[in-house]
Amino acid sequence: MELTLISPAKINLFLKVLGKRADGFHELSSLFQTVDLCDKLTFQTHHEDSLTCTDSSIPTDNTNLVSKAVILFRKKTGLNALFKIHIEKNIPSQAGLGGGSSNAATTLWALNEMTGKKVTTENLQIWSAEIGSDIPFFFSSGTAYCQGRGEKVTSISAMKSKKLWIVKPQMGLSTPLVYKTLEAPLWDGTEHSWLNDRENYFNDLEKPAFQLNPKLKELKEFLLQKGFSTVLMSGSGSSFFCLGEGEMNYSCFDNHNIFKTNYIRRTEDSWF
Ligand code: C5P
Repeated sequence: MELTLISPAKINLFLKVLGKRADGFHELSSLFQTVDLCDKLTFQTHHEDSLTCTDSSIPTDNTNLVSKAVILFRKKTGLNALFKIHIEKNIPSQAGLGGGSSNAATTLWALNEMTGKKVTTENLQIWSAEIGSDIPFFFSSGTAYCQGRGEKVTSISAMKSKKLWIVKPQMGLSTPLVYKTLEAPLWDGTEHSWLNDRENYFNDLEKPAFQLNPKLKELKEFLLQKGFSTVLMSGSGSSFFCLGEGEMNYSCFDNHNIFKTNYIRRTEDSWF
């Protein structure tokens, strides 16, 4: 049996860090949205586990979240099927776009489909939090308010679909380092303004990211000068998304990846 699924990226329309927790993670309040910048994953049952990826810089050993998802699925279900998995990589890494997390969620969904759909989506979502904070989001409708360390997910109704540009500079950022650089955050209730229907784009992780690499601040300012109404870093960076009518001139960005995308969502019983 073979199954091919897309695995979408996410952006954070707002990301508030409420504080540091005793377990070392940060308490978040964030609005996540899937976009149609996607990897493509192919799954086959096989006589042994194997993982390959078109991007040779991505490890395909047991540190890959896809491998972790396979191991988790077998542990939780008691099934012992083996899988050959191939990742066609389009989502840049170290970008704050959730590519690895999305691949892991897609893997859990696929393995469940291929083994008789015995597990509820809700259970897949709960299990997935054991291997990464951002994975449960991908079992939502595609637009969700995420709390806790990101794993407490509340789907919300679709937002008006928007065209957006995503710009990923060559430099990447390490998520743990960005959180480590963050100064003690102060809760100011900001995200409620979004939930009350005011689109208030912000990301508390921009400040530490800009401290780690001041060139990112220059990139944000440059993009704002191009006319976009919103330019915001996604997650822990280093990519930015740009909304509104701006001028995206490829020749300005020799070493940047640029993607034109839209919001996407999934319906309850199907994957993206
Ligand atoms: O859960 P995940 O493995 O994606 O987290 C990667 C790292 O990001 C954590 O080890 C932690 O340093 C940081 N993190 C955090 N607070 C969160 C999510 C991630 O401090 N809510």
